[in-house]
Parts: sequence; C-alpha cells; structure tokens
Amino acid sequence: MSDPAPAAVKAVRPPDAMKKLVALCKQRGFVFQSSEIYGGLKSAYDYGPLGAELKRNLMGEWWKDMVTTRENVVGIDASIIMHPNVWRASGHAAGFSDPLVDCKVSKERFRADKAPRPAVGSALPITCADKGVAKDWADRIAKDYGVELDRDANVLNGLVAISATEFGFVPKGASAPTKTWPWRGYVGPTFGCPFLTDEKQFNLMFRTALGAVDPMQDVANALAELTAAPDLSAAVSAKFGRDAAEGVLAKSLTDFATTKDRAKLLRGVIEHLTAPSMAYLRPETAQAMFVQFKNVMDSSGMKPPFGIAQMGKSFRNDVTVEHFIFRSCEFEQMEMEFFCEPGTQKEWMTFWKEARMSWWRRFANYPDDFTFRQHASDEMAFYADDCYDIEYKYPWGWGELEGIASRTDYDLSQHEKHSGVTLQYVEQEKADPKTGAKPWKYKPFVIEPAAGATRGLLCFLLDAYHEEERVTATGEKEIRTVLKLHPKLAPIKCAVLPLVKKDGMPEKAREIIAALLKAGVNAKYDEKASIGKRYAKHDEIGTPWCVTVDGDTLLNDTVTVRDRDTTQQIRLPIAEVVATIKARLEA
Ligand code: GAP
Repeated sequence: MSDPAPAAVKAVRPPDAMKKLVALCKQRGFVFQSSEIYGGLKSAYDYGPLGAELKRNLMGEWWKDMVTTRENVVGIDASIIMHPNVWRASGHAAGFSDPLVDCKVSKERFRADKAPRPAVGSALPITCADKGVAKDWADRIAKDYGVELDRDANVLNGLVAISATEFGFVPKGASAPTKTWPWRGYVGPTFGCPFLTDEKQFNLMFRTALGAVDPMQDVANALAELTAAPDLSAAVSAKFGRDAAEGVLAKSLTDFATTKDRAKLLRGVIEHLTAPSMAYLRPETAQAMFVQFKNVMDSSGMKPPFGIAQMGKSFRNDVTVEHFIFRSCEFEQMEMEFFCEPGTQKEWMTFWKEARMSWWRRFANYPDDFTFRQHASDEMAFYADDCYDIEYKYPWGWGELEGIASRTDYDLSQHEKHSGVTLQYVEQEKADPKTGAKPWKYKPFVIEPAAGATRGLLCFLLDAYHEEERVTATGEKEIRTVLKLHPKLAPIKCAVLPLVKKDGMPEKAREIIAALLKAGVNAKYDEKASIGKRYAKHDEIGTPWCVTVDGDTLLNDTVTVRDRDTTQQIRLPIAEVVATIKARLEA
C-alpha cells in the first residue's frame, strides 16, 4: 500500500511556530496551564499524557548519558526541602533576589533589570488597555503629579525622557518641560509608565514552614499585643528580652530608634517569630551534591575526579514569566557537580563543555541552533573562574539553556564553614604542592553543568515543529504538521492502526500492539477516524512510525510501516515488526 498523499515538499519551521506550538501542546496533551478550570495559575504548567512522556524520555536520556554510562559519575535524589542553613551557606538566602519595582499608576509589578529603557529625548507614551482606563489614569496622574496628559484614544502623551536620570512633562505645542521628576531610565514593560516606586530586592526562594507549628498564630498573638502598647520599642524589648538583643530583631530595634518606622520594626518581629520554622523549597538541585559530598565519597568509594548528578524539581518565585514554559515558578533541572583536583578545572571544563553540547545536538534536527556563550568576567559570580552558557536560538533570539560553570572550591568551602564539617579529599599518593609532603588534603574544584529539563523540552518541541504544504489526491492544498522529535524522545514510538474497524483487522492490530508492549516499546492502538486523519494526528504528536493492518495483512500476514518524516511506507511480515521498530529506535 502506498501513502494516500503525493510526495511531500520540504517541511519547514514556520515563523509563528511558537504560537502554533503552544496551541498544539494544549490540544494534543503536551502542556496545560496549571489549574486551568480555576482560571489558571500564572507561571505554572502541567505536563499532560504526551508531555509527561516527553519529559521523562528527555530526563531519562540525560541520566543515561551523565550517570549510568559513566564510571566516574553517581546520581542522588535529595529532598526538595533542605536545612535552611544550606541556603545561608550557598548565598541564596541573602543574595538570590530580583530588583522589583511597582508602577504607581497601573500597579504593575516588574523586574527593573528587564524593563524597557527608552532612548534619551524620546516620548514616553503610556498605553492603557482601553479609553476608559486611559481616562482613569489621566485623572490619577493629574491628581498625584499635577499634569494634564494629552489623551489620544487609549494612549496618554506628553511625557518625555529628558536625560538618563530625569523625565518631564512637555505640554502639546511647548518646547520645554513644565515639570520634571527624577528617573532611573526605564518604564513599566506593559504600559510604558515612568511613575515608579523605588527598587526592592525580592528573594526568589519560596518559603514554607516546617513542623507542627503555626507561626502565623504566634505572629498574630504578638502583633495584637505589641500594637496595643503605647511604646512599641519598649514593648518589643520587654517581650523578647535577650532575643531582642540579637540578630534581626536587634537590627530592627536599632533602625527604629532612628527612623521610628513601626512597619519595619514589626517586620523584624515577624521575621524573628517565623525564623525557627522557616524552610525553603530548593531553588536549584545543585546544593544537595555539595552537602552530600562527604556521604557519597564515604559510602560509594568515589574519589576525585568524580561527579554527583541529580535531576528534579526546583522552585523560583520568578516575577517575570516569559515565553510559555521557558521560565516558570516550578521547573525541572538536570545538574551535575564534577569534583576535580585543583589545577585541573580547565581540562574538565573543556571536557564537559564538549560532552554537554554534543548531547543537546544529538537529539536536534538543527544542531547549529545550539551555541556557546562565554560569560564576561563582570557577569560571573565572584568565585567562578570561567563560565559558559549553552544557548538555544529561540524564536525571540538566543537565550540560555544550560550553564557550565567552573565554581572553584567555593561551595565546599562555604558548607565547610557553615556546617563545621571538613569537606575535603585526602589524596594519599600525592604530595601537597605547597608543602611537598604527603598526603595532599584538598577541597576539590568543581565544574557544574546545570541544564533546564523543562526548558530543554521547549527547545526540542521548537526544533521539531514543522509544516509541509502538500497537494492531496484530489488536488487540494493542505498543510501537514509534523513534530520531528528524535525517536528516543518521542512520547509514543509506534502507532498500530487497523485500516478499518472490521474484517479481523482490529484483532490483528491488537496482537501487534501486545507484542510491541511486551518488548518494552511504548506503542498505541488507534482505530478512530479515517487512516489519513490518524496519520495526521500521529505526525502532529511526533510518533515516528505507524504500523497499518490492511486487507493484505489478512491474506499474507504483512503490514505497512510508515515513516513520520518521509511518509514513505515499507511492507513487512508481522513477525519482523517488533525487531524492526526496536532496531530503528536503537539506531
Ligand atoms: N546550579 C546552577 C543553576 O541553577 P541556573 O542558570 O540558575 O544555574 C540552570 O539554572 C538552568 O536551569 C538554566 O540554564 C535554565 O535552563 C534552567 N532554569 C533556571 N530558571 C528557570 C525557570 N524559572 N524556569 C525554567 N527553567 C529554568
């Protein structure tokens, strides 16, 4: 049997692939908005039946490549909630933050470092959702800032970027500003408004409370008592006694003495009361590998150079949500810490850079869409001595997919300092280069390839999404959508399709499905709709092969095997189907 459609023209990736892919992901069950029936949860996604398979396949390939096929790497699966001191030692508690700003007019909250920066001298139009909103905002600006902006439908005009540090109001027809305000050089991303609050550092870690405690009740009781007292600072000192003389509460009391800022002091009280039960959802999978470095070495006999790998969920309260699953609050990472002798980190950086790049390219239709970008020295963490990103050519431009950092011995040193446990390797056979004496006790240097699994899934969906213009047997033009996923990543490897739902074809197809499933091939039986529609559906979800049971099957026990990318079909004895599909999967 030959393909019902004439030979296909070359498949291309359309310019609006992202939009079409988002629609396909929902329609076919790759990715859904989280809690959609409740209106959805911003920046959270659920992976549907096909997305879950694709993600498992991708992460499984990473685990195979990084752990099970390497003698010098072992894997761990650590808790998502770790001791809060882990995040103090790693620097996340103090420094893992984004600068956030609120627009005083629209109330939009956004990241200052990602905000648009209009050129000096340019107009700063405020673009509102509609005319009604424009009127409200114009009234608010008139009341709060004393200027009458010119309303043109939903746009408010009259503001101008005067310099990098100042914007002003230039009335229609005037040549100079009648009023000016200080400016930090950017505007709100959605509406373009320059009336903004100061920047506030916002920690990206999700907090939670650990243990059978309800810190909120303690907080409520304390606030009820303290806010009723005539002298707040005296009441805080009296209630918390010695505790108040230490830590965050002491700082709040000192600040209060000069600022009389009651809110700041009460925040200090809240921080103090919640601190003992406070825990964080991990913002990266990496720290567990440092924290368990000694246990892994002691229990498994690994010694440098060796790696500890982990993949799994990480959580970041990212305010900027961009481009579908590219950045989400809950995502999956695939990270490895490779511990090596100090002085060998350059060689290992070269090794892991190549290994990681070749892994991504192996599964891609367009390997050139992956590239390296070396970090400039002012972009790297202060402790790193080299860092590269593997970037992907997303539809909106090149962007990060994986970071490969040479982190020196910073993390082990930090955890040693904060935990009091020695985290070093004793090399009996080598002399310490500084003293010349054996053994050499050193803290290994670390190369960290840190990849995003959910972001990788987006890259491979974008890489795979193709459209092909074809002419049907009846002469009409049609678009064939085909997801050219690597067979190892494809959620379903093989569909088995009876040509019609009668004449014993379903029974034959079921026999083939049973044999494929028994052999461990993820295959699906499908008898709904015409054969053309079923091929189209499986092309769209990336199924590499369709096995069709037809009239000839009943005569001679042969079936056709159709290739997703070429649409070419070959005829095979049923007895050879499992071996053929397995061989192609392994190829
Ligand atoms: N331990 C180092 C580390 O976590 P990172 O660059 O912050 O480094 C590594 O994260 C990778 O994790 C990124 O290259 C990206 O692929 C992925 N990633 C980070 N934040 C993400 C988010 N909010 N949503 C999806 N993926 C994210």
